[in-house]
Amino acid sequence: MTEPVLEVEDLRVRLRTPRGRADVVNGLSYTVAPGETVAVVGESGSGKSVSVLALLGLLPRGIATVTGRAVLQGEDLLTMKPERLRQVRGPGAGMVFQDPMTSLNPVLTIGRQLVEGIRAHQDVDKAAARRRAGELLAEVGLPDPVGTLDRYPHELSGGMRQRVVIAIALCNSPALLIADEATTALDVTVQAQIIDLVEKLQAERGTGVVWITHDLGVVAGIADRVLVMYGGRCVEDGTVDDVLENPRHPYTRGLLGALPDLAQPAVDGVVPDLATVPGTPPAPTDLPAGCVFWPRCPVRGDARCETEQPPLVQITRADDGRARLDLPHRAATWCAEAPGAGTFGTESPSGAGTFGTESPSGAGTFGTESPGRAGGGAR
Ligand SMILES: Nc1ncnc2c1ncn2[C@@H]1O[C@H](COP(=O)(O)OP(=O)(O)O)[C@@H](O)[C@H]1O
Ligand code: SF4
Ligand SMILES: [Mg+2]
Repeated sequence: MTEPVLEVEDLRVRLRTPRGRADVVNGLSYTVAPGETVAVVGESGSGKSVSVLALLGLLPRGIATVTGRAVLQGEDLLTMKPERLRQVRGPGAGMVFQDPMTSLNPVLTIGRQLVEGIRAHQDVDKAAARRRAGELLAEVGLPDPVGTLDRYPHELSGGMRQRVVIAIALCNSPALLIADEATTALDVTVQAQIIDLVEKLQAERGTGVVWITHDLGVVAGIADRVLVMYGGRCVEDGTVDDVLENPRHPYTRGLLGALPDLAQPAVDGVVPDLATVPGTPPAPTDLPAGCVFWPRCPVRGDARCETEQPPLVQITRADDGRARLDLPHRAATWCAEAPGAGTFGTESPSGAGTFGTESPSGAGTFGTESPGRAGGGAR
């Protein structure tokens, strides 16, 4: 079996905040294989950004306590010396944040920042690095790549700055690329260009990608696997087909509840976002006992829901011919164990609260359409 590019095991992040201890990431485990794209989805505040910042040592020291393992190409990022971590960022792992100004130096030209990024890890002279920098800016779709090299970040629009940050993240052909809502602010044409560029890099270099997004069009378009986060945990993961076509956790079903058919062309280029789930996510300073989703869950019916955290378990049946047993479909919910599990679209085990078109009680319905229409998106 191919070695994963990244192997995260029992990642936990605790922050010291004015409101007390915040358990922001609570035992996250996943792998990213070479060339694979893992999409991480979930509502705002579910710990997605903190979980990836923790990997690269980018959380404030003295405030964050990070435990677990995060092995990138054989080395544990979490126990790495700061000097080694600086070397690894670049050719090992590139990261793109939602806000480009957090990654750009306002007093240096774009060209200088790219050239320095390239020369920090590659043995090339300034002229060659500048040529490569111009090529990269062209590849991310900037209209005047050579002219842009001599401009400062404040002279560019937000979308142009974001493309520069993506070029910097890609300039050393990283083994792992982490994109945190990286294309959210870009228009769909540029977004498609960036996705093509990342896919090219994956094909050439076997780059593994962690792509955080709330945009289901992007998930269906680029992801191989999907990881759904809630309350700092993975509540469901599996192949993009498993999770989008056959979501088994009530939270995932809620997120997909109003999902339009992704096989249909987007209207005016607009791709769907995750649906809104009624209620609000728990504060990491005040996580509920039991299943972290129970206060919002319309199908809770198991005695353990409010007292015992369900483990993330494989729900793929061995006799299911469609199942990828090497890429299991997993969910953390007591209801997946109940007979009739997975039939939320039409019935719920307890008879209360469905996510599909009808609910026997009329209560607890998320959205108006049955989930399970996704997965037909272009790939
Ligand atoms: N530096 C910080 N200090 C205190 N709390 C933080 C800090 N960064 C993030 N948090 C809290 O951690 C939780 C998860 O945040 P985040 O990872 O940004 O969520 P997501 O990316 O899923 O929207 C949120 O409740 C947020 O308020
Ligand atoms: S364990 Fe219970 S509360 Fe949690 S998602 Fe499953 S049914 Fe809902
Ligand atoms: Mg975030």
